[in-house]
Amino acid sequence: MKAGIVGIGRYLPEKILTNADLEKMVDTSDEWIRTRTGIEERRIAGDDIDTSDMGYEAAKKAIEDAGISPEDIDLILVATVTPDQPFPSVACMLQERLGAKKAAAMDVSAACAGFMYGIVTGKQFIESGVYKHVLVVGVEKLSKVTNWEDRNTAVLFGDGAGAVILGQVSENRGILSFELGADGTGAKHLYQDEYIIMNGREVFKFAVRQMGESCINVLEKAGLTKEDVDFLIPHQANIRIMEASRQRLELPVEKMSKTVHKYGNTSAASIPISIVEELEAGKIKDDDLIVMVGFGGGLTWGAIAIRWGK
Ligand SMILES: CC(C)(COP(=O)(O)OP(=O)(O)OC[C@H]1O[C@@H](n2cnc3c(N)ncnc32)[C@H](O)[C@@H]1OP(=O)(O)O)[C@@H](O)C(=O)NCCC(=O)NCCS
Repeated sequence: MKAGIVGIGRYLPEKILTNADLEKMVDTSDEWIRTRTGIEERRIAGDDIDTSDMGYEAAKKAIEDAGISPEDIDLILVATVTPDQPFPSVACMLQERLGAKKAAAMDVSAACAGFMYGIVTGKQFIESGVYKHVLVVGVEKLSKVTNWEDRNTAVLFGDGAGAVILGQVSENRGILSFELGADGTGAKHLYQDEYIIMNGREVFKFAVRQMGESCINVLEKAGLTKEDVDFLIPHQANIRIMEASRQRLELPVEKMSKTVHKYGNTSAASIPISIVEELEAGKIKDDDLIVMVGFGGGLTWGAIAIRWGK
C-alpha cells in the first residue's frame, strides 16, 4: 500500500508587510533584504486571526479538494511551533471546528521541518492499513513570536497555512522514500525565548549542508538519481539556501519552487503553501518525481521523494 497526497489547500492572511514597511521599523533596507534573503514581502495575520484560524481555512480546502467529508479523517497532525496556546493542541481545535468526529489529533513540534515530520508520521498509519485519511497541516503565526525591533530576524518571517490529505494512492505513485533527522547540539543556534533568537550564520551553514545531503539521501533510498527529479520544493527560508540545494541536484531554475519572495519564511507552512502554488501554476504534473526538503530549529530536518498523483 502506498501513501500519497490526495487533497491540498492553503490560506494566507491578506495583510502584506513589504520591505519598505520594514525600513520604517528597523535599521534595514529593501536592497539588503532582497540580496541576502530573496524576500520582498510577507503576510501578517491580524490580532483577530490566530494559528488555528489559518489552519482551519487551509484544512477545509484540502478536505474539499480530496472529495472527502471531515468524518472520513482518521488522524489530524498539525505541524506548528506557534500554537494558539500550549494545550489543547491546534489539532484538537481543528478536530472540533471541522467536525472530524472520528479523528485522533495531535500537534507535531519540529519547527520548519515540522511539515516533513507530519507527512512521514501520517504515511506510516496509511501504509500499515490502520488509517485511510490523515490530515496534515503546516501552520504558523510567527509574527507573534517575532521581535519587531531585531533586524536580524524581523525581516525573515511571515504567517500562513498549508494542508494536505494523505490517503492511499496507486502502487507506482506516492511517497517513495523519506529521511528525518535531528541534531539537538545545534539547539542554541535557533530557538524561542520570548521571541525568536537566531545565529543566522550557523543556521545558514547547517541548512546548506543538510538540505543538499537530504535530497541526495532520499533519492538513493528510492533507487533514483538526480537526473530523475522533475521538481524541487525546498523549505522557503532564504533564496541562497534554496539555490544551494537546487545546484546540488543540478536542476534548472524553473524546476525549483520559489514563493519566498512573496511570503517570507512561514516555517512549517512553507512547503504545503508552495505545493498548492506550483500545482495552480501547472508546474507539477501527475507522475512527476518531486523532492521536498525542510530544515529548522532543533535542529531538525526532513525530506521526501514523492511520485505525484493519486
Ligand atoms: C540571516 C541571514 C540572511 C544573514 O545573511 P548573511 O549574509 O549571513 O549576513 P551576515 O550574518 O554576514 O551579516 C552581515 C551584517 O548584516 C547585518 N544585518 C543583519 N540583519 C540585517 C538587516 N535586516 N538589515 C541590514 N543589515 C542586517 C548584521 O548585523 C551583520 O552586520 P555586522 O557584520 O556588522 O555584524 C543569513 O545568515 C540566513 O539566512 N541565515 C539562515 C536563517 C534562516 O534561514 N533561519 C530560519 C531557519 S528555518
